[in-house]
Amino acid sequence: MLMTYGRIYYSKSITIRHGGVKMSTAIFFYSLNGTTKALAEKQAAETGADVFEVHEVKKRNAFTAFIPGCCLAMSRKGSAIVPPEADLAKYDEIVIMGPIWAGHPAPAVNSIIELLPAGKSVSLVCTSGRGGYDLAKTAALVTEKGCTIKETICHGK
Ligand SMILES: Cc1cc2nc3c(=O)[nH]c(=O)nc-3n(C[C@H](O)[C@H](O)[C@H](O)COP(=O)(O)O)c2cc1C
Repeated sequence: MLMTYGRIYYSKSITIRHGGVKMSTAIFFYSLNGTTKALAEKQAAETGADVFEVHEVKKRNAFTAFIPGCCLAMSRKGSAIVPPEADLAKYDEIVIMGPIWAGHPAPAVNSIIELLPAGKSVSLVCTSGRGGYDLAKTAALVTEKGCTIKETICHGK
């Protein structure tokens, strides 16, 4: 169903700009244990966004997630990731999803942010045990890339 607000048309969750050009959205996510993956795939199915899983070059286990994973997360550093096949430049909106480790987004989230071309509208979505983490410092990494933050969400279980 199409609803009209001024000159912008909304269809469930696909936005159409004035002039009829469809906004394209991609979800890039990292997930160690599957929670973020399930959320990303659900959101993609609901919105029609393209969805891409991002893998680290060196697969983590529970131990390496804590050390050095949490240390990297706490200092907002990235990890080596396999370059995604998708071209981020061709999307208007980019949703970056990942888990919270030691109170901060996992290092692969920071690595995805590093790939952002300037000018994108970016949402940060994290999953965590308790929810409610402040993503402002990670959002600052996004704006340093010349992108704007659309929203930040941190889900709990
Ligand atoms: C190394 C590690 C550190 C974590 N640290 C936190 C934390 O500080 N706070 C929290 O609420 N949950 C924490 N969690 C739980 C995850 O954020 C949560 O289970 C998340 O949904 C997992 O996503 P995934 O299944 O996509 O990997 C941690 C999990 C791991 C593996």
